[in-house]
Amino acid sequence: MDKRDVVILGAGAAGLFAGIEAARRGRSVLVIDHAAKAAGKIRISGGGRCNFTNLGIAPDRYLSDNPRFARSALSRYTQHDFIARMQGWGIAYHEKTLGQLFCDGKADQVIDALLRDLGAAGGELACGVSISDVSYNGRYIIATSRGVVSAEKLVVATGGRSIPKMGATGIGYDLARQFGLRIVATRAGLVPLTFSDALREEMASLAGLSLEAVVSSGKAAFREGLLFTHRGLSGPSILQISSYWREGETIRVDFMPGQDVAAKIAEVKRGAGGQITGNALAKLFPARLASQLASWAGTTGRIADLKAADLQRLAKTLGGFEISPMGTEGYRTAEVTLGGVDTRDLDAKTMEARGQPGLYFIGEVVDVTGWLGGYNFQWAWSSGWAAGQAV
Ligand code: FDA
Repeated sequence: MDKRDVVILGAGAAGLFAGIEAARRGRSVLVIDHAAKAAGKIRISGGGRCNFTNLGIAPDRYLSDNPRFARSALSRYTQHDFIARMQGWGIAYHEKTLGQLFCDGKADQVIDALLRDLGAAGGELACGVSISDVSYNGRYIIATSRGVVSAEKLVVATGGRSIPKMGATGIGYDLARQFGLRIVATRAGLVPLTFSDALREEMASLAGLSLEAVVSSGKAAFREGLLFTHRGLSGPSILQISSYWREGETIRVDFMPGQDVAAKIAEVKRGAGGQITGNALAKLFPARLASQLASWAGTTGRIADLKAADLQRLAKTLGGFEISPMGTEGYRTAEVTLGGVDTRDLDAKTMEARGQPGLYFIGEVVDVTGWLGGYNFQWAWSSGWAAGQAV
């Protein structure tokens, strides 16, 4: 039987990073993945340039049933630690916006560096290997398509359910349940929202149009790009709010962030002569959007004729349009999976399961989900690093 100190299931960002750290400590490490190549999500991330961390990493930018859980790992291995690692690798990067750090070149550089470090430290990677069974008899016995492996420590880094086409499976949640850990219900996050047929058709007529907006749901609000698509709404502000939005709730869109909406409308009205409202609003918005906004406000006549109540309705539409999404596009297009292994059953310092010695969960499979913008990779690095020190 193949005997190892540490077996890691999943060769994504979290699994590879944990593998490097453990192998550097002299542990014999095997990282197993069923995909033909490691780290598929790093390769496609950030539009192919990997938004690998964010300068503004802070625990309150993560969603979890237990918001305090991520603090320890994020503070022990920070964005600055990972930036130093990138510098050590000689990979050039830049800040795009809102603290988001991207590679100047291709994301493959990050994967190559991780694989180099894993190999240099003596860790082994086995891709294209499926896992059929895991059991425990004091050691972990992992039945795989290339034989049985026994391990003193088992690290589960199999990610979430997002993008099944890329090989995402629920194996991490199944293993957690098998060993008695609780699961916080999972749902798609950082995902476009969908709307009723009527609203979707109206939005489709605006497809391709983007603008800056503040999108809010409850207390959460994001001022970022908003994009109309043939299927509904997308863009960073919508992806961000999708993680906070719950079925049945409305979202609010402020199409004029930071502006005095009533004053702007009054100004447009003064200079509009006999124009209909949709045409007059083209002073503030692209023409197609201007007439759609006027229609949503029910103010399709001449702007000069609008009464106080009409103007109020128009101001509300431009500055706080309430929409009820029907749902999300789901795991098919979601960047992340919210929920996952319940953090109450994990040690925040080591990521080890509380009731099951030698079993660890890291990365996206855990109920810790970051904002859009490099937050999720930082969680993968930080939680991977924490487990790497402990296994
Ligand atoms: P990850 O999903 O990366 O790795 C899990 C591994 O486990 C995979 O290699 C998979 O093949 C393997 N696996 C699964 N089931 C298995 C099984 N049954 N047997 C064997 N192996 C199995 N984040 C960010 O911070 N910046 C960004 O720019 C982006 N961009 C981005 C774009 C797109 C399109 C997506 C879908 C996601 C992002 N993300 C992101 C999110 C980010 O990719 C994600 O949070 C991390 O990859 C999570 O890392 P993990 O290592 O936890 O899982």
